[in-house]
Amino acid sequence: MSELKNIMRIEGGVPLNGTIKAQGAKNAALPVMAACLLLKGGSLTLDNVPDLYDINTMKELLKSLGVNVKDLGANKVMLDVPENISHEAPESLVRKMRASSLVLGPLLARCGKAVMPLPGGCSIGSRPIDLHLKGLVQMGAKIEIKSGVVYAKADKLRGRRIYLDFPSVGATENLMMAAALAHGETIIENIAREPEIDNLADVLMSMGVPIDLEGTGCVRIKGIDEVHSGSDKVIPDRIEICTYILAAIMTGGQVTINNIIPDHIDAILAKLEEAGAKFKVNKDSIILTPVKRLHAVSFRTMPFPGFPTDAQSPMAAALSIAKGTSLIEENLFQARFLYTQELNKMGANIDIKGDTAIINGVESLHGADVKATDLRAGAALIIAGLAAQGVTQVSDMVHVWRGYEAIDAKLKSLGARVELLD
Ligand code: UD1
Repeated sequence: MSELKNIMRIEGGVPLNGTIKAQGAKNAALPVMAACLLLKGGSLTLDNVPDLYDINTMKELLKSLGVNVKDLGANKVMLDVPENISHEAPESLVRKMRASSLVLGPLLARCGKAVMPLPGGCSIGSRPIDLHLKGLVQMGAKIEIKSGVVYAKADKLRGRRIYLDFPSVGATENLMMAAALAHGETIIENIAREPEIDNLADVLMSMGVPIDLEGTGCVRIKGIDEVHSGSDKVIPDRIEICTYILAAIMTGGQVTINNIIPDHIDAILAKLEEAGAKFKVNKDSIILTPVKRLHAVSFRTMPFPGFPTDAQSPMAAALSIAKGTSLIEENLFQARFLYTQELNKMGANIDIKGDTAIINGVESLHGADVKATDLRAGAALIIAGLAAQGVTQVSDMVHVWRGYEAIDAKLKSLGARVELLD
């Protein structure tokens, strides 16, 4: 993992040039790692696990529960799970990362009980886990929340039909893992359709769980008594891919990105095409060619296959120098526009009205000292800095290390002038 330095200094104005390979998806790796907790003796071997701060937090969390985490090199990880593990997730790790709540479903299903502090909100908005808990209760769990800690119990969860009030990614994942060891069949309706869900289904199937992911917002899972050792590969990170696509476009660069799954980034490519970007998509790669300037486009963030909220801020950075006025409506996280104040320090002209960002495209950005307010905000500021005239310093890089593997080295390999400072 790159040294966790806190500032990235960027000399902007250099078109990116060259070829990079996408990392494994953070948001796919986290749930599939948590799935190892279903094992009572056995291992889960995962390929293409990205080397990230959040992944390290999940490794620490699994270790704290008794899992033996073995790094096999080349982004391969083996999770060895003994017969007996702890059912109590430590507060210090759960508070570090919201996705820690993904251990709740598998721990409860496998140990018959689980104790987990509530992960709380984060800088992009309040993020409750009520849908996760409601589904588990419907499966027969008894849940109490005392002083911000969830105490869940169920001798044996029961499969049943569950309708999710919202297609939450995390709730879908937690309930799928819980259903793997429940008695009978669980049918979850109105599930998230993000590609990360298919990845989790593949991993659970590799562990012997019969799953029918119908592709229509519904999944059927036949609970079994015991899962067996499994293995799989983490899918490419669609948000990292979009970030580099936008960096290439903003700097007027010629960049090829390998190891992509084009279907996963359809919504973004459609918007970029509408904005006048030029690219060629192959089976598992994309080649960006330079265009002078994008035109304004408008969109709203939605669950998959809609435009992903995680690509909202990098896209806003690109539209800040497009011709005309773009509107972005954020529908998932209420505080996801904090970064626009930072972009405005670089000369962007963005107004926020409620859930909508009004981006009046300017001719160019200039360098400034700015602060990453969250993971994707940090990425947006970095790509803005790459396109800006002069020097930008992005501080609070700690957020960026949560989701971008070796972003400094990757950008350097494309000719960017970036360095990390303490
Ligand atoms: C996952 C992703 C995150 C992405 C998000 C939406 C991971 C580790 N993180 O987060 O990067 O931005 O999907 O694509 O995969 N909600 C509730 N109650 C719940 C659960 C969710 O009200 O019990 C709300 C949330 O506050 C939010 C919306 O539903 O407004 C979407 O959340 P969800 O789909 O659950 O996202 P995460 O799984 O947290």
